[in-house]
Amino acid sequence: MDGVQTTLRCFRECHSSEMFTDDGLGTVTSREQKKVERSIEEVINVYKQIHSIPQPTLLREQHYQYLKKGLRHLSDSYECLDASRPWLCFWILHSLELLDEPVPAAVASDVCQFLARCQSPTGGFGGGPSQHAHLAPTYAAVNALCIIGTEEAYNVIDREKLLDFLWSVKQPDGSFVMHVGGEVDVRSAYCAASVASLTNILTPKLFEDTTNWILSCQNWEGGLSGVPGLEAHGGYTFCGTAALVILGKEHMLDLKALLRWVVSRQMRFEGGFQGRCNKLVDGCYSYWQAGLLPLLHRAFFKEGESELSRHKWMFEQQALQEYILLCCQNPTGGLLDKPDPETFTTRATA
Ligand code: FPP
Repeated sequence: MDGVQTTLRCFRECHSSEMFTDDGLGTVTSREQKKVERSIEEVINVYKQIHSIPQPTLLREQHYQYLKKGLRHLSDSYECLDASRPWLCFWILHSLELLDEPVPAAVASDVCQFLARCQSPTGGFGGGPSQHAHLAPTYAAVNALCIIGTEEAYNVIDREKLLDFLWSVKQPDGSFVMHVGGEVDVRSAYCAASVASLTNILTPKLFEDTTNWILSCQNWEGGLSGVPGLEAHGGYTFCGTAALVILGKEHMLDLKALLRWVVSRQMRFEGGFQGRCNKLVDGCYSYWQAGLLPLLHRAFFKEGESELSRHKWMFEQQALQEYILLCCQNPTGGLLDKPDPETFTTRATA
């Protein structure tokens, strides 16, 4: 066995013992789980054969090129995201920021002008020019503009109108609807808290009862659901916890139950996270679930739980890293939710 194989967790012999066992009782869920595990096993086997790759690496340049191109041109397969255009700006800018790649001033200015066209006359931002204001694209637009961080970017945001919009979606029980006449869920509380905090319009009155409403989303599992009484889910759990962090109330959660729930969502064989119990691994939860751990780490630290906060970051970082680098990278840039065996087989034999 060479050095690479001994250092990678997924190349260790005992790794296969982490595979799912259905105790002879196959279900739709267990069959789907086994299918995913088989495709991951195949990806790992292909990597084992490639000795020229010393260790899994981030395809930095490919991701950079993919992101850079996306700021100027997207293929027609993105048409379904026509109501999420500020999200595309935010996802790309946030990724470039993480890669420490600067955005040329002319491109940044074009993004500012585009987002200005998405701003609604009633305050907040819509999913595209002339679309109704909605909290999700408002979150994406404001965060994108803050990443750009120029005078031009900050000047796009009409803070007075933004505050009007936030009041227009606030509900008497402390929750928020996503848009006027729309649905309530914990995403909206997070989007509202995030943009209010970034633009310095956050007041206790605007978020009156919001803390209690979010706390009522934490259920017996330990995670948070979209609205009180439903199943805990990684996306909602991140939103609820992050909103409470912004409001300075995260200590009111049952933090130990939350920690137990989120670490149990890391898949034993795959290394990535699932969004909820008995569901499949998905790369997006590397963000929503793994992103909770630093928030919890900080919360435990603030609570004086030094024993828990001593263990950085309280989950199997290497396993997640291997899942993302080996199973989720598109060879031409961009990330996948799970491996596509075809792509990896072609790449290994090319
Ligand atoms: C899939 O649910 C859902 C997602 C992949 C998105 C989850 C993310 C959020 C709810 C957070 C959104 C945040 C903001 C700020 C708007 P599914 O039921 O199809 O997938 P599952 O089987 O993995 O549960």
